[in-house]
Amino acid sequence: MNPKKVIRETEKYLATTTRDPETYPIILDRGEGVWLYDIEGNKYLDFTSGIGVNNLGWPSHPEVIKTAIAQMAKLAHAAGNDFYNLPQLELARKLAICSPGNFEKKVFFSNSGTEAVEASIKLVKRRERKYLISFIGAFHGRTFGSVSLTASKPIQKAEVGPFLPVIYVPYPNPFKNPWHINGYEDPNSLIDRVIEYIEDYIFAHVVPPEEIGGIFFEPIQGEGGYVVPPRGFFQALQRLARKYGIYLIDDEVQMGMGRTGKLFAIENFNAEPDVITLAKALGGGLVPIGATIFRAELDFKPGMHSNTFGGNALACAIGSKVIEITKDLLPHVNEVGKIFRDELSTMDVDDVRGMGLAWGIEFGRIYNRKIRDTVIQEAARRGLLLLPAGEGAIRIIPPLIISGEEAKKGLAILKKVISDATKLT
Ligand SMILES: Cc1ncc(COP(=O)(O)O)c(C=O)c1O
Repeated sequence: MNPKKVIRETEKYLATTTRDPETYPIILDRGEGVWLYDIEGNKYLDFTSGIGVNNLGWPSHPEVIKTAIAQMAKLAHAAGNDFYNLPQLELARKLAICSPGNFEKKVFFSNSGTEAVEASIKLVKRRERKYLISFIGAFHGRTFGSVSLTASKPIQKAEVGPFLPVIYVPYPNPFKNPWHINGYEDPNSLIDRVIEYIEDYIFAHVVPPEEIGGIFFEPIQGEGGYVVPPRGFFQALQRLARKYGIYLIDDEVQMGMGRTGKLFAIENFNAEPDVITLAKALGGGLVPIGATIFRAELDFKPGMHSNTFGGNALACAIGSKVIEITKDLLPHVNEVGKIFRDELSTMDVDDVRGMGLAWGIEFGRIYNRKIRDTVIQEAARRGLLLLPAGEGAIRIIPPLIISGEEAKKGLAILKKVISDATKLT
């Protein structure tokens, strides 16, 4: 089918969501490793990983495909919340053991990031602790609980509501923050500023700490612009939370599973959250899966929470294999990550931030969306797929299996597109 017709028909039959024919008039056909092909046979180097899902490449890692086929031939669905099965036990045990936090943990399985977040809300919100805190720029999903926590774009909350009672506080964003709006703030000074804001303003004037159930955060803000907080921030946040008996919920849906060079992104910050959410890459690019890992003492009452597909044998067998392969890949992620850091810092952009294979670049102190969008569209025309993040950033998240050579190839395209962008805009 002609690509223009596919786009026309898609817009006719599918709900309006986040697809944008201007940015991506590409009809994907197949993938191989870090390469994607459209229905006309054009080839693209992928710096998007299917928005953080295909960390092990396209369509998936050969070992994961093998595991999936073997499990499918045996037992795929298995209603994990109603019947026992071995793959869900194995994956839950693995997640409990390899996640940070030296305490007893349990796992709830679901089918997406938003569901993993919904479960975590039910774990920490209590009648007497009905308020939640989240950060400006946060993205936690689009169902009612998780969208209540989301604060990255007003459109995400347009026309619906009411929402859960959430107090939004500034994220320690060195590039743009309320204290120094269009210039760099020393990242370390932001730690105290944010903690004091919560303690001295929110707790003192808005809601007392004993009415707050949880503080939700992303270890690096994803949809908010690939914002990396100062290294000491989450330890400071943890001290504050523990002082007042508030739970910390670490949303690793986008940054987890090796993306930052550690299995869990929060390991880069030496903090121990009470709840961790995962989804996206845990499914190896083959199946939807969500996981909520939590302090055992927070467990639901029987019947309080469940679902149909969570803990299905197929998704869980895949998840276990994904963890195994990802762990082995971590040294490679850090190695190739250095190429990204070095190359990106030679480009004509105003900010480069990231770790492992999670990078953000930004144009203009006052967000320059026009240059950003031009770079993304032009890069796609030249065979490199990129994604926007936040108001003016580009996120660079190749599959973790990318070779040094492939990384350099993509970065060379990006560098040239950026240097041409001022002429193009
Ligand atoms: C940090 C974070 N949390 C939650 C979600 C929601 O995940 P899903 O789209 O699978 O519902 C996303 C999706 O991008 C995310 O990045």
